[in-house]
Amino acid sequence: MRAVDLIQAKRDGRELTEAEIRFLVEGYVAGAVPDYQMSAWAMAVYFRGMTAAETAALTLAMARSGDTVDLSEVRGTKVDKHSTGGVGDTTTLVLAPLVACAGVPVAKMSGRGLGHTGGTIDKLEAIPGFRVELAQETFVEQVNRIGVAVISQSGNITPADKLLYGLRDVTATVESIPLIASSIMSKKIAAGADAIVLDVKTGDGAFMKTLDDSIRLAEAMVAIGEEVGRRTVAVISGMDQPLGNAIGNALEVREAIAVLRGEPGVSPDLVEVCLSLGAHMLLLGGAASSYDAAKETLAAKLSSGEALRKFAELAAAQGGDPTVADDPGRLPTAERVVPVLAPRAGYVGAIRAEALGTAAMQLGAGRATKEASIDLSVGIRLRKRIGDRVEAGEPIAELHASAATADETLVAVARRTAEAFALQDERAEKPPLVYAVVTPEGVARLA
Ligand code: URA
Ligand code: CA
Repeated sequence: MRAVDLIQAKRDGRELTEAEIRFLVEGYVAGAVPDYQMSAWAMAVYFRGMTAAETAALTLAMARSGDTVDLSEVRGTKVDKHSTGGVGDTTTLVLAPLVACAGVPVAKMSGRGLGHTGGTIDKLEAIPGFRVELAQETFVEQVNRIGVAVISQSGNITPADKLLYGLRDVTATVESIPLIASSIMSKKIAAGADAIVLDVKTGDGAFMKTLDDSIRLAEAMVAIGEEVGRRTVAVISGMDQPLGNAIGNALEVREAIAVLRGEPGVSPDLVEVCLSLGAHMLLLGGAASSYDAAKETLAAKLSSGEALRKFAELAAAQGGDPTVADDPGRLPTAERVVPVLAPRAGYVGAIRAEALGTAAMQLGAGRATKEASIDLSVGIRLRKRIGDRVEAGEPIAELHASAATADETLVAVARRTAEAFALQDERAEKPPLVYAVVTPEGVARLA
């Protein structure tokens, strides 16, 4: 077999076999297929697409290219969850304990943040003492004992995806639905999931800007799940504004704790999307008979305080301070809080999540490069959401900053934050939270 023949075949629109795709992926990781051939192939895929069988073959070849996690010792159906996007996306911190206390085991591997997106592992490290690395046996034992563990992704998961994603980034081949779908699904499969709930973001700050493209991406991932025997459901949710009001590590942990307290009116959009994703997780995990029943169960776990106690149990099991659940003041706290004022009166029409993620990164909440260090205490809190009325000079957000941050930086970040709010004269409707749900049975459009 020769790579050049497979590139030519894909260029001419022929379907590659599973063995041919495996040859390319294994050869690429081994160094036998060079970058220039892999990029030519990726460009051919970009233009020609891939069939469902090809996409599944690529996913499995990448999933098997490095370490895979064996969760067979964990009792029950392991349901993983993945969000595409991720500014102010605090769903994992809420869902892990919430779903666990409703009877579905959560054995989760998460990543760190990079660029304008946050990562669950950094957020968990805001809990004093929390250990994000556990030995495999400890990880499995903890899930069997308390129902939940969240650890940092091992270094050698899906090396083929790491290489190919890096190559796509510099060869204008990221925006290919089969390549994105196989990239995401390969990581979930390598992490040992039996079933997968995907939160596919749509809109300005998301990978897929239109609902139709988001649905196509979701369908591709659900089809891969079917092909490889991991039942997959995708919820298409809006990125018209950050989901929660906090952007930044300790700030997001505080928000998650507030949600887990179950007090009415706290971050209602974040709560609603968590209930929706969580309900699909319970259904896939066999812990509920219907979507509505699952949502009711989860809402009851929030209001009874059980979910918050599970959060404290998770923290304690991994060496963290469980008292943060009752006393969030023990989390890292920024030295300065600076209000961002509305430059004019009007209604909030949109809040650009990506710009806010970048602004929070400038305060030190995120990494510009993989090696950069971050300040867990800093970030941005939104005081207004889409549809809200604001007066000129009214606070729309607040910056949580370090005393070491230069005043010029604060001024620049405040300007960037204010510019992320689109203020308009006309009233603005609250955007839908969930646009559609994609299952193996088809697409249900909800908005
Ligand atoms: N996220 C991924 O993990 N892979 C892609 O290709 C795109 C987004
Ligand atoms: Ca994420």
